[in-house]
Amino acid sequence: MAAKDPLISPILKWVGGKRQLLDQIRPLIPKFSTYYEPFIGGGAVLFDIQPSKAIINDSNYELINVYNVIKDKPEKLIEKLYEHKEKNCKEYFYEVRGLDRDKKKYDLLSDVERAARIIYLNKTCYNGLFRVNSLGEFNSPWGKYKNPNITNETTIRALSGYFNSNNIAIKCGDYREVLKDINIGEGSFVYLDPPYMPISTSSSFTGYTANGFGEEDQIALKEQCDILNQKGVKFLLSNSSCKFIEDLYKDYIITKVCAKRAINVKADRRGEIDEVLVRNYELD
Ligand SMILES: C[S@@+](CC[C@H](N)C(=O)[O-])C[C@H]1O[C@@H](n2cnc3c(N)ncnc32)[C@H](O)[C@@H]1O
Repeated sequence: MAAKDPLISPILKWVGGKRQLLDQIRPLIPKFSTYYEPFIGGGAVLFDIQPSKAIINDSNYELINVYNVIKDKPEKLIEKLYEHKEKNCKEYFYEVRGLDRDKKKYDLLSDVERAARIIYLNKTCYNGLFRVNSLGEFNSPWGKYKNPNITNETTIRALSGYFNSNNIAIKCGDYREVLKDINIGEGSFVYLDPPYMPISTSSSFTGYTANGFGEEDQIALKEQCDILNQKGVKFLLSNSSCKFIEDLYKDYIITKVCAKRAINVKADRRGEIDEVLVRNYELD
């Protein structure tokens, strides 16, 4: 594996981002030939380990478009972000946010315009939260930041270089499609970071896409993990620490970890949430 590029890091702040857990995840990553991350989100783990061969995926079309545009058109993207930076104010934020309310007009936007819109909104909205309503419309409010890093050129260029100088397949769809890859087998490693099982209704957040990820989805995901296990594929899965998840994965190795999370409505729980890391292999 090539030396790590310190300029490569997540471009988007993503709910459930794993930056705070990297020190605990890193030692659990085995040696592998191909890396799979079917719920890529902000990509904190991918961009930390920087594998030379990877298949990444997310069901969120806007997010995957951001990665494709960073790969293929980084300079056009940076140019568009400079336009947003110049115009940035509360009224402009709501104008850009509102673009997805008119589907016909929205479909006319180019891939670069859509990607720049997501990055701009992510840098300027409240808490950097990518949140959509049931119609799939971006609905986080204005974040009142004094000096948001909207253009982020260094990171965009570093990410573009990483995508282009390595064998990274970027896919958009359901995670199961990625796991069906006929080449997946011994030597493959899958890191799964699905939307978490809510630990209480007040702190639940499953609004990444218009469809949430409920109990049945967690059970279906565990069945996919069993299939990987039968094929001899190593997997590591993150989830919240709750009885449901711990019972579901009782046949695997479970490590409890503490994550600092800003997104929690209960102030006393803010900052320390127990999460679990589940794996099907002994450490190398
Ligand atoms: C917890 S986030 C991933 C966080 C990420 N690992 C990070 O460090 O930023 C979960 C992701 O799963 C995606 N997702 C939800 N349902 C999905 C599905 N059925 N297939 C693929 N991705 C899905 C969401 O769009 C979201 O980006």
